[in-house]
Amino acid sequence: MSPEIRPFLHQPTSTWSYVVSDPGLRAAAIIDPALDFDIHSGRCWTAAADEIIAHVQRERLAVEWILETHAHADHLTAAPYLKSVLGGRIAIGEGIRKVQQAFREVFNLGTGFPVDGRQFDRLLGEGEEIRIGSLVARTIPTPGHTSDSLSYLIGDAVFVGDTIFMPDGGTARCDFPGGDATLLYASIRRLYELPPETRVFVCHDYGPGGRELRCETTIGAERAGNIHLRDGVTEAEFVALRTRRDAGLDVPRLLYPAVQVNIRAGELPPPEDGGRRYLKLPLTDSRA
Ligand SMILES: [Fe+2]
Repeated sequence: MSPEIRPFLHQPTSTWSYVVSDPGLRAAAIIDPALDFDIHSGRCWTAAADEIIAHVQRERLAVEWILETHAHADHLTAAPYLKSVLGGRIAIGEGIRKVQQAFREVFNLGTGFPVDGRQFDRLLGEGEEIRIGSLVARTIPTPGHTSDSLSYLIGDAVFVGDTIFMPDGGTARCDFPGGDATLLYASIRRLYELPPETRVFVCHDYGPGGRELRCETTIGAERAGNIHLRDGVTEAEFVALRTRRDAGLDVPRLLYPAVQVNIRAGELPPPEDGGRRYLKLPLTDSRA
């Protein structure tokens, strides 16, 4: 069965979000929705999420799930806002516990911050099946970029998060806590076992070489032409390339704000005295 898929581009972070629906039963899932956030002022707002809401309401869809492919490091999730307006349950890979553990330490969140994933409505493991109307989303854990990375196979479409990008965009970095290039290699090879005509939907595209932004390719096209990992590239070659590239990458602009919010399933940190909420910025003191 072929789901109906509507992509939404969050331009400030080059994030693709999706509404996946069963046209017959008018049921839908939202994948990787982004919250607008201005790092300079600390303001967050919902213009991008409101576009998704308008689409869902126009199409009279019932949202059953809000699915995260992983705890993103480049945008804040709008999942709880969408849930408050449209309903649905928020799900993520069960590897989120490892991500929470790692970043509880980074942000010194203390034992008051639970690292068992309870902030989410559902944690998903290997080969689970969730229903979206008459559609079935099957989970394929694809760790490597993060410990919690999960791909969703829905009919003839697979939503791969940051596991692979468009063929000319390559693959995601593996240098965050819990990242592992060897694991990413295995995860991608696993995706490549899907039928070559399977449609692949990516979470980001940066339009390399100035080409127009795209969100969709196929497993066959990735296997033939992914610049980091096409058929014939060995694990050792891939790991060497990925490690070399990661060593030259800057910390993502929104890493600390995004992760602090996303490991809470998109809730902002609790208010301090006076009712205001704050984000932490861990410092590295390199003074002589
Ligand atoms: Fe990511």
